[in-house]
Amino acid sequence: AVATGPYADRFGGQLVLVTGAASGIGRATAFAFAEAGARIVAVDRDAEGAARTAEMSRLIGAPEAWAETVDVSDEQAMEKLAEKVAAEYGIVDVLVNNAGIGLSGSFFDTTSEDWKKVLDVNLWGVIHGCRIFGKQMTERGQGGHIVNTASAAAYQPSKALPAYSTTKAAVLMLSECLRAELAGQGIGVSAICPGFVNTNITSTARFAGADETEEKRRQKKSARLYGLRNYPPEKVAAAILRAVVKNQAVVPVTPEARGAHLMS
Ligand code: NAI
Repeated sequence: AVATGPYADRFGGQLVLVTGAASGIGRATAFAFAEAGARIVAVDRDAEGAARTAEMSRLIGAPEAWAETVDVSDEQAMEKLAEKVAAEYGIVDVLVNNAGIGLSGSFFDTTSEDWKKVLDVNLWGVIHGCRIFGKQMTERGQGGHIVNTASAAAYQPSKALPAYSTTKAAVLMLSECLRAELAGQGIGVSAICPGFVNTNITSTARFAGADETEEKRRQKKSARLYGLRNYPPEKVAAAILRAVVKNQAVVPVTPEARGAHLMS
């Protein structure tokens, strides 16, 4: 297939690694970069989903695409991934730290284990990605770009999402600090902050303090709510490509995320 779309071939010859690429925003992002001619590494802990993303990326326009099964919160696994990618595919030009999990529930319903799980993936996963792949970018000395998927929850307090929002606020600040640190080396860092987007995250999000029936009921309810808002992941993917091309720092996506950002 030949690269098409608004950024046709804009990323030709570049290597783009996306985490959480088996579904939702990550998958749409892999496809958008594939359309723009990039070579794709689709990383997810869901092996089958990642393989499917890689396969479809090739059909869409990626000259090459690979799937790697990795848990982003596992530091050693991330180190191994980076070594393998560098040896077999090359140095990553664009890294999209997008893997994340949802967790709803009040602060007092949220146990230490809940906090640990959500911090491990949403914050540590991003820290590992930035440090390990960012180091390879700086050592190569030819620039690059890191995109971290934060959330409008990063700057919009909610009593329903204290743990999740805390991880996303941390990702937002980490992105801004790293942006300042890497600016002199031609490496851009962007934080993407979507509001409600129609993906799987709501149907898999855990509800702190809820029993199983209650959890299922609330998952259904929030999936319906996200469905109603119906903001497609493809539009978030387009915002991610634009953020790289224009080297934007903080990018609120979806109308309510932009509104909340203006107010904050
Ligand atoms: P999703 O659930 O469709 O996709 C998340 C992907 O991350 C899944 O494929 C999952 O297997 C993968 N993943 C989860 N934990 C992982 C781990 N430890 N290692 C490797 N892969 C892992 O959800 P969505 O919406 O596409 O989420 C992507 C990012 O966007 C997340 O960081 C989420 O917090 C963020 N976000 C989503 C919003 C929404 O409304 N959907 C709003 C704002 C931010």
